[in-house]
This record gives sequence, structure tokens and C-alpha cells, in this order.
Amino acid sequence: MATLRENFELLAQKNRDAEAGGGEERIAKHHKSGKLTARERLALLFDPGTFVEVDKFVTHQCTNFGMEKTKFLGDGVVTGYGKVDGRFVYSYAQDFTVFGGSLSLTMSNKICKIMDMALKNGAPMVGLNDSGGARIQEGVGSLAGYANIFHRNVMSSGVIPQISAIIGTCAGGAVYSPALTDYVFMVEGTSHMFITGPKVIKSVTNEDISMDALGGALTHNKTSGVAHFMAPTDAECIQKIRRLLSYLPSNNVEDPPAAPCEDPADRKLTEINETVPDNPNKGYDIKVIIGAMVDRGEFLEVHEHYAPNIVVGFGRMGGMVVGIVANQPNYLAGCLDCDASMKGARFVRFCDAFNIPIVTLEDVPGYLPGTDQEYRGIIKHGAKLIYAYSEATVPKITVITRKAYGGAYCVMSSKHLRGDVNLAYPTAEIAVMGPQGAVEIVFAKEIEKAADKVAVRKQKIADYSDQFANPYQAAELGYIDEVILPEDTRIRVIQALEALRTKRDTNPARKHGNIPL
Ligand code: HXC
Repeated sequence: MATLRENFELLAQKNRDAEAGGGEERIAKHHKSGKLTARERLALLFDPGTFVEVDKFVTHQCTNFGMEKTKFLGDGVVTGYGKVDGRFVYSYAQDFTVFGGSLSLTMSNKICKIMDMALKNGAPMVGLNDSGGARIQEGVGSLAGYANIFHRNVMSSGVIPQISAIIGTCAGGAVYSPALTDYVFMVEGTSHMFITGPKVIKSVTNEDISMDALGGALTHNKTSGVAHFMAPTDAECIQKIRRLLSYLPSNNVEDPPAAPCEDPADRKLTEINETVPDNPNKGYDIKVIIGAMVDRGEFLEVHEHYAPNIVVGFGRMGGMVVGIVANQPNYLAGCLDCDASMKGARFVRFCDAFNIPIVTLEDVPGYLPGTDQEYRGIIKHGAKLIYAYSEATVPKITVITRKAYGGAYCVMSSKHLRGDVNLAYPTAEIAVMGPQGAVEIVFAKEIEKAADKVAVRKQKIADYSDQFANPYQAAELGYIDEVILPEDTRIRVIQALEALRTKRDTNPARKHGNIPL
């Protein structure tokens, strides 16, 4: 019978074995490619000394292809929980040094266990993915494991925040769980995600494509929009995840974490009084207004590189967390296209699910015209944004800085979609469409008949602009609560946020709505 000391030594040895992952050689190779190991990543994610590992000695149960001879304690994933800025967070980190992080049934059981704990305890779930997909030797067992994870992702959606990092090369099933979560992070140069890699693509479609061009961080942040954030290194990626978590509540029945605010709530923004140019056809950077408005100028932009005609992200105002949605006149004149509508809608729905008030800055000449957009389904995608704003019951504050034309007036958190506080700058233009377009339609015959067509057109445009290129018709109807100077934006929005803290609003009982997907 083993002595007490021998028992303790056995435990210490098992711990050392588990912590060795796939062995020194594989770890050295992993480090050489610029990546951290699963345990090093978790050490950066959690507050020092708070991580508690679960299922450290679990091993795979596969006997195909002689797999029983190669087992690693913990298999290809490290799971557990700990604290991030003092709040509990649950996490798994796949270990690429063990069978390339490929998913065994055992691994999926470990991941599901930690996901169940996160959901039951109402705490965010962070998945650090570094995996070659389904473990080929396990066959359908591995596929079952993926489906078990996907189901939990769906059940957790809107209940706890779910964050994924693609922090290595992720293929096949390894990319679908991240796609079901709220936010996806990637690392420049070392992260890749795809359903099938360059070799399979070459054999099926004869396309030549590099790993980076196919599924690198920029591709997914800018082109596909699958990823929301990117960072230059593993460490900076994990730091950014911690920053995102600082804005989020632990679950859907908590409020987002307020922070003490030294930035005066009554700070005047005189520096932005002239940010909106006199010339309505001139662009400007909406991020200047966002930066001036939020506490200490701190804004965490989400989806920075995708559909830049709409800007979304998190900030604090008077210490309260807000989700900001803003049209960007510097890109496509701030028009709403398919991508911008989807980006905005998803963000609005996230904020609504997690009790984060939405502040909308509006300057949009309309939905983007053209066959490309019509064929891609702008009607369906644009409807997503209407749906998202309309169903949202969190506090909704809108500031129209300039153009609010047509459908865009309706969609961007207007009074009619239950906007709570709707403000406008004196430069606001609230109309069915811009002066040129309107005159060409309404006065086409009159202009056609006129001897001096140019003069008549000019006069009609001037008349239309006088009547509609301002916020006052909407203010007369009560669709705008107040016309404010830009310098008062911060003061008024914070006052509204405070007044709306106790807001209660609900939607009719139903199984779920049917957003146009
Ligand atoms: C078992 C795997 C594996 C896998 C990698 N390995 N992928 N083992 N199943 N899916 C093992 C390798 O045998 C190797 O073991 C180690 O992991 C590292 O792999 P390398 O190829 O040496 O590394 P690298 O050159 O960096 O290439 C990484 C990779 C490549 C790009 C991920 O391994 C790869 O293409 N793997 C297959 C990817 C794939 O097609 N997955 C889809 C599976 S189907 P040793 O012992 O040498 O260290 C799927 C469907 C699910 O996922 C559908 C759900 C909806």
C-alpha cells in the first residue's frame, strides 16, 4: 500500500504530466511560431492566482488506430474558471500541442461541463480556440461532441456573454462554435479560420489562395465580418478580451458594470460645435463626436474594419455603460448598405439582450441605392436593423447630427420605434429624401415646362431645403424632443441615461420573433 508521501507525490507527478501538454518539443515548436500555450493564455486572461482548473486528469477514450497508446492527461483542452477584474468568468483553452487541439468526445465533454457551469452560475464564457477541428481518429464521436457544444452556445445566447478567440489555426468544426458566440477575436499573422483549408479549395475549385488571404485576421475582420476584433499578439488579444468584459454584465439579469467617473457629466463639448460642416455634401468623422462625448474619450470599437459606414462600440457616459451606434459620413456618406445593416442590427440586439442602453448618432442619407445592393437583398438586410431597434426595450437615445432621410429616419431609433429621447442638432435635416432627388420627382413636369430650367430647379431646391432641411417640422410634431447645440450632447445624453435608469418596457409574449435572416 502506498504511503501518504507516495500518494502526494503521485498527485504532483500527475499535475506535472498534465501541465506538460503535448511535450517540450511540441511546445517549443508552438512558441517558435509566435504563439502562447493554452495555460499561458489562461494565465493572462485571469486575475493572478484566481484560475481553478477542472478535469485536469481526463483522457480520451478512443481505441481506433492504436490511439489508446497515446494519451495526454487533460487531453487537448484546459478548462476552468477564475476572476477577471474581480468577476467570475468561465473559460476553455484548446491545447494545440495535443493532437493539434483537435476535438475528441472527451474534450467536448470537458468544454460542455464548463459551459453548463457558466450558464448555471450566470457568468461569461470565454473560449480560446486553437484546433484542427474534429479529431479524425474518433469519427462520429467527435462530431457528436461538436453538436453538443453548438447546442450549449445556442442555449447560452442572450443569457451570458460568450466570447471566442481564434488564436491559432482553426478548421472545420472548430469555427462554428465561435460563430455562434457574441464576439470573435483574432491575432494578426497567426490566426486562421476556415471551413476547408487552401489544399481542399485547390482540389475542389482549383483556386490558389494563401492561408492568410483565405482566413486570416484581416480577412475575417474586414471582408467576411465573421470576426469583430484583431490584435497583433496573443497577449494583446487576451488583454482586449479583458477590456471588452469590463463593459459587459455577467448575465442578462444584471446591469452592466458602472464605473466611478471623474469626467464631469456637465462637460461642454465646445470643440465639436463646428464638426458638422456647413456644406451638407461634405463628410466628417463621427468618431470625433463619439470621442468627445464619452467618459475620458474611451471608446471600444467593435467591428472596426467591417462596414465602416456604421460605427458601433462601447463606452461609458457618467460612468454608465452605453452601446453606441453611429452613421459614419466619412464612408459612403454614412449610407446604410447590407453589411452596415447587419452589423448594426447584431450590435443593437446584443445591447438589448444585456441591458446596455443604446445611444444612436444619426447622419444618414438613406439606404445605399444600386443593383448590387438590391440583388444582395438590401430590403431583407435593411429590415434587420428596423427589427432590432424596434424590439429593443433598453433605454434608447438618439441624436440626429445632420441627415435623417427616408427609411433611415425611421430605422435609426426614431420615436416611432420606441426611441425614448430623440434629440437633434440645429443642422439636422429630417425629410423623405434629399432636396435634389425630391425636386426631380415632385417638380419634374414644372421644370420640364420652364423656359429657364436651371433657375426653376435651383429655386425649387432652395424652397425644399428651407422647408425640410431642418429639425423643426419634426420638433413641431413631437418626433424630436429637443433641438440642442452640439456642445450640450454629453450633458443631455447623460441626463437622459439617468432618467431612463428605471425604464420598464416589454414585448408581447411569444416563443420568439422571426427576424428576417
Ligand atoms: C487529429 C490532428 C488534426 C485532426 C491536426 N492534427 N489536425 N489530429 N485530427 N483534425 C494533429 C497532427 O496529426 C499533428 O500531430 C498535430 O495535430 C499538429 O498538426 P500539423 O499538421 O503538424 O500542424 P500544422 O502544420 O501547424 O497544421 C495545422 C492544421 C493541419 C492546418 C490545423 O493540421 C490541418 O489541416 N488539420 C486538419 C484540418 C481539418 O481539415 N479539419 C477538419 C476536420 S472535419 P503530431 O502528433 O504530429 O503532433 C471537421 C468537421 C466538423 O472538423 C463539422 C462540425 C460542424
